Amino acid sequence: MKNLVVYSSKTGNTKKLAEAIYEHIPEEKEISPVSGAPDPEGYTFIAAGFRIENGEPDREMQEYLKRIIDDCQVFLFATHASERGSDVVKAAMKKARDLAKRARIVGEFDCFGEVPEDKLNEARQQQPQPEWVKYAEEAKGHPNEEDIREMLKLIDSLDLPW
Ligand SMILES: Cc1cc2nc3c(=O)[nH]c(=O)nc-3n(C[C@H](O)[C@H](O)[C@H](O)COP(=O)(O)O)c2cc1C
Repeated sequence: MKNLVVYSSKTGNTKKLAEAIYEHIPEEKEISPVSGAPDPEGYTFIAAGFRIENGEPDREMQEYLKRIIDDCQVFLFATHASERGSDVVKAAMKKARDLAKRARIVGEFDCFGEVPEDKLNEARQQQPQPEWVKYAEEAKGHPNEEDIREMLKLIDSLDLPW
């Protein structure tokens, strides 16, 4: 049983979820940022997490998801500033599922991720303003302990290899 947690994270939000999953896996495990991540072949389980950027999973994770092949169980997770359940988040999660179509997706989780003030100010000045800017206040403080608890509870409810 080889388990891998791979993530893309510019400001640390997705990394927080990745580390919580890594700690939670009881067996042989590795964790890596997507840049420099090991080849996905040979892993029984991969938790793949990304930040949503401009409406999509970030580019590097998109490339990695394409490389995951059959027989590997995949858990997708993401952080974002748009509302949970919004069309933007649904579309980004669908894109991730489509890219990892050769793997078996066993579950997915997403939650808010705080945007640093300087990045938020940059986005506020864009014309048109990205739609996620209006939820940025709500995203503050996330991911928090409750998000992590919810995600781990979901993981525990799945039929995973360990
Ligand atoms: C340049 C930029 C673009 C972003 N684009 C989106 C987006 O399209 N949709 C969204 O929901 N959140 C967007 N966000 C918010 C991030 O997805 C969110 O803060 C996420 O938690 C960042 O994850 P990280 O800390 O792991 O890098 C954007 C943030 C930045 C700075």
